[in-house]
Amino acid sequence: MRVCRLLRVGLDDDPAGPTDDGAKLVAAIAICHAKHCSSGRFAIMGRSPLNRGSTFSEKPEMEAEDPIYNALYKYTKALSVALGYRDSLTRLHSERVLGLAEELGMKCGLSSNELGILKISASFHDIGKIGIPDPVLRKPAQFDEAEWEVMKQHSDMGAQIMAAMDLEGAQQAAQVIRHHHECFDGSGYPDGLAGDQISICSRIVAIADSYDAMAVTRSYHRARTHVEIMAILHEETGAKHDPALMRVFCGIIESSKYKAAKA
Ligand SMILES: [Fe+2]
Repeated sequence: MRVCRLLRVGLDDDPAGPTDDGAKLVAAIAICHAKHCSSGRFAIMGRSPLNRGSTFSEKPEMEAEDPIYNALYKYTKALSVALGYRDSLTRLHSERVLGLAEELGMKCGLSSNELGILKISASFHDIGKIGIPDPVLRKPAQFDEAEWEVMKQHSDMGAQIMAAMDLEGAQQAAQVIRHHHECFDGSGYPDGLAGDQISICSRIVAIADSYDAMAVTRSYHRARTHVEIMAILHEETGAKHDPALMRVFCGIIESSKYKAAKA
């Protein structure tokens, strides 16, 4: 089995092992991920445990010219422009979610191919909002129950839009988009998946999405400070978010350029 650099620097080959809790956690996630690997380029979708079927790259860093990412981005960027005309806040939010998700994915040791799918999914996680009627999408207040049911359709719509792309990686990205509002305890939507049934990419997008959504002012809430956001995320950990991924996130957000403007 090929191993990623995180494993090489992390555990079995290094008698000293990781030197701090953060490194141990990242190495543990990488091992958990690797134990489910066997063959094939992509398996970051579906109901299986962590990425079963995918392989780790010798180089977890994103390659500058990733052909799958580049092709998908080329054919989907027009969609983000279209969404930007309907909802400029969502487009800007998606760009920041992409940056945060990429940082977290790299720290978790995802392969180059997996990072490509993660980046596309993060960029277009809310692309389904194109299909949400204006009275809901642009409502300057909190939704009532019926409106929430309409808004919740965006993850399925987004998956359908991405899946319609006849490009390598599109089906996997579609599944990540479909599940970016699933919760770790199974209380999310649209499929009520729990734990490792949710792909690691969907779990990463969920954390990045939640963080950035709280960091900016919306018509129905003020921008929260970094401290306030982290307190809420900690409260939601285990229910909404993956505890192991949250611990890695805590290790990167303090020095991230996507950290909330308000301390
Ligand atoms: Fe969403």
